[in-house]
Amino acid sequence: MPTDACRATLVGAAREVPGPQPLPPSAVQGELPGWLRGALVANGGGDYDGMLHLFDGLASVVRVGLNEGGGGDGDGSKSIATFAQRMLRTQARERKAATGKVAYREFATSPPVDPPGLAGEARALFSQLAQLASGSPQFTDNASVNLIPVEVPAAGGRPLLLAVSETPGASYLVDARTLETVRHAAPDAEADGVPGMLTTAHPARLRGGRELVNFTRTLPFGGMHVYRMASSGRDALKREAVAFIPDRRKMSPTWVHDFAATDDGYAVIVEPPLYMNLASLMIGGDRQRKGGIVPGASDFVFMDWRPEDGVRVAVVPLPAAAAAGEEEEGEGEGAEKAAAAPAIPKQQQQQQKKTLYFLVPQAFFAFHFGNCFLVKADAATGGGPQLCVDVAAYDDPAILNDLRLAPLLAGGRPLGERRGGHGPGGRSGEVSRSRYARLTIPLDRGSTDPSSPAPLAPPVPLTRPDAPDADFAEFPTLNPRFRGRADSRYAYVLNAVRPTNMGNALAKLDLATGESKTWREPGGAPGEPVFVPRGAAEGGTGAEDDGVVLAFVAAPEGGSFVVVLDAREWREVARVRLPAGVPYRFHGGWMPAAAAAAGGGA
Ligand SMILES: [Fe+2]
Repeated sequence: MPTDACRATLVGAAREVPGPQPLPPSAVQGELPGWLRGALVANGGGDYDGMLHLFDGLASVVRVGLNEGGGGDGDGSKSIATFAQRMLRTQARERKAATGKVAYREFATSPPVDPPGLAGEARALFSQLAQLASGSPQFTDNASVNLIPVEVPAAGGRPLLLAVSETPGASYLVDARTLETVRHAAPDAEADGVPGMLTTAHPARLRGGRELVNFTRTLPFGGMHVYRMASSGRDALKREAVAFIPDRRKMSPTWVHDFAATDDGYAVIVEPPLYMNLASLMIGGDRQRKGGIVPGASDFVFMDWRPEDGVRVAVVPLPAAAAAGEEEEGEGEGAEKAAAAPAIPKQQQQQQKKTLYFLVPQAFFAFHFGNCFLVKADAATGGGPQLCVDVAAYDDPAILNDLRLAPLLAGGRPLGERRGGHGPGGRSGEVSRSRYARLTIPLDRGSTDPSSPAPLAPPVPLTRPDAPDADFAEFPTLNPRFRGRADSRYAYVLNAVRPTNMGNALAKLDLATGESKTWREPGGAPGEPVFVPRGAAEGGTGAEDDGVVLAFVAAPEGGSFVVVLDAREWREVARVRLPAGVPYRFHGGWMPAAAAAAGGGA
């Protein structure tokens, strides 16, 4: 179980440290691999004052540079690290700084009504309904969830990071070196014809990261608008509509956090039966719960769970440009690649013209997806083409209530004190259970009717059920050079060594044997694992686990460090103690020094 000091760091305030600020040699314990040159960057909350949920903190971005220069010669003899941490300059932050109050509706936190009481509730309700009717609700611009390397011409080749969250307006460009907020980067829905009030913070990075695929959603009576855009070049960040997926229930859109995609030309959108309750979405479930004027608060923040509906899976064909090429690194520019022949056989292209729909009758919930790969048709056996999608799957969405700040901070206290009667979310003081599992989708058996999907088998666990550490998997990742490949054998996840009410370990999963190995700092809590492969120029063997896993860790005594794990041996080789605590991180990545200098990214 993480200590109180650890939890205080995770939901504390991010102290701003302009940078990159050099750290003293004593900050590095162990031996930092000399070949590891670049920066670990990540996004997350940095101000939880007045907030109710882990997802609500106002955005802060952090960067830890390793062996980047300034004396570092890359041979390991000089282990040099730098640090920077900044708050994102959003409207949500500026208005809160000016008024001292939460200004926008966040995931679970709503602004206080004015005047307090029913008159204020009625005024807020009228305002929200008017905004919904006008199609422009005032959602937050708090871009706290992910950081995507991009390159826009106006920045003169300077490497940038796109900070994003789950509204199109929560989109800001950040200087990848100093972490200064450069500018707001909200898309123009009128110009590009991609409408939508919500989106995902997980654009799929295809073709070596040059192309981003994502979707927005319209509501009510809407659905998901899949689009693609380039991450660099003249048309960087301009969206192009690809497909539309109608909602399962017209008045109750599903909440989908992430999806899977592959360079082979498919996006796979998995829709657990977790439906937004529009009243709760607009007004705030917690405000309803406190006795506001609209009853019927949802059980899961602003969502309702209807397991009887099962999980709908949509396989969306992507245009040929997205399917071009199989080997991306070190190759030519986008125009040449776009003109290359698609990797999909012609008969499969015919099959993939329309979106295919499937239904898993047994409900499960998921935030995140790992590997996704195509198994081509086998003429010898008569087997049709299949898509495999790896997912960190929960039985239900109770994890959304686990991540409320009250139970997170209460630690091991009895359940009755911690949940406050907020619905069926909690069953114990333990963090919900989840498994890393694989969906296998037969592409020749899909339905093109979204209201009549073809049956699909539930995901099959990829780890042995008897392993003591096999019942929590989150933030799955893998060697990026093995993404999209059927022969990928290893995944790395946030893991839980129980008893604990949150992820408190990192695990390496061997998908061939089902075995797993964990690393943890007792009393501490790591965040998302990031795999950095050791390239051939750096003496790498090309083996899938030849590299390191990096993660931010909230320390048991307070404060934070970055842990460096040898991925093959699964042991700690170094840690970098940071000069300021880093609150809970959601997502980020690694920017290699060479790519950063050239204006590229991880
Ligand atoms: Fe996420």
